[in-house]
Amino acid sequence: MRKTKGIILAGGKATRLYPITKVVCKQLLPVFDKPMIYYPLSVLLLADIRDILIIVNPDDLPLFKALLGDGSALGLTIEYAVQPVPAGVAQAFLIGEAFIGRDNVCLILGDNVFYGHGLQAILQSAKDRAGASVFAYTVRDPERYGVVTFDTDGVVSKIEEKPDMPESSWAVTGLYFFDNDVVGFAKKVRPSLRGELEITDVLKCYLDEGRLNVFPFGRGYAWLDTGTYESLVDAAVFIKTIEDRQGFKIGCIEEISFQKGWISKEQVLAIAQGYKTSYADYLRKIAGGAIG
Ligand code: G1P
Repeated sequence: MRKTKGIILAGGKATRLYPITKVVCKQLLPVFDKPMIYYPLSVLLLADIRDILIIVNPDDLPLFKALLGDGSALGLTIEYAVQPVPAGVAQAFLIGEAFIGRDNVCLILGDNVFYGHGLQAILQSAKDRAGASVFAYTVRDPERYGVVTFDTDGVVSKIEEKPDMPESSWAVTGLYFFDNDVVGFAKKVRPSLRGELEITDVLKCYLDEGRLNVFPFGRGYAWLDTGTYESLVDAAVFIKTIEDRQGFKIGCIEEISFQKGWISKEQVLAIAQGYKTSYADYLRKIAGGAIG
């Protein structure tokens, strides 16, 4: 079976959050106790993906490098690429072509937060499927997203980007698994009316060949949006509520790497050494085996 590499797309201008994101990159904004990008990164780790490319705006490159470096402190290999002008989600496969090479790839948007029991198992099964695998989630405002429609047998019949009149409430989340054909499909896609290389058009190529798998996330999952003032606060409150109640952190990348055996106790403690916060206390508990 081919290896699966990961891409986090963390470019874009995030104008809907201005002035917050006028000079600060959205994917580095806090979501309660950690930078936003920790959440999508943690999803890749849960899927056992350790070779990761982060695509960023040129101005933000030094910031991401300062935060995550080459990934070795987390037992990962992290590379970076710049997206000089944001031109759509599918541009990630053109920018990432050399990185992907002959492997499979998982793309996750740098502002997507996922939470739910059994997430790891669902990620693993999606990773092992041939073709493309995406995740659908019921939302009240599907017109803001890619939308999938299912036929009476539950087979996906249609996928549309931001339809004016959505035929279902199933939004496609910003997490996608692809085989190596994705690069060729992305090269064929032409810009949409909004001037973007749409991921939905890439997914249509798979759908036309009968190779698009859609995994529904049930109501026990949270897929959180961080695209507006309100949703950014909502995401932070959600994370805080669960973390306060249970004592477990969501999206703690050091914890996942440690539990998978990719970093040692000493490496976790070295990271804790650099912080004087409850995040550091948590890392010490992990290293000491108090959480696991
Ligand atoms: C993008 C995709 C859309 C998907 C969404 C998930 O939308 O184009 O299909 O549902 O991400 O967050 P955008 O963020 O570009 O509006």
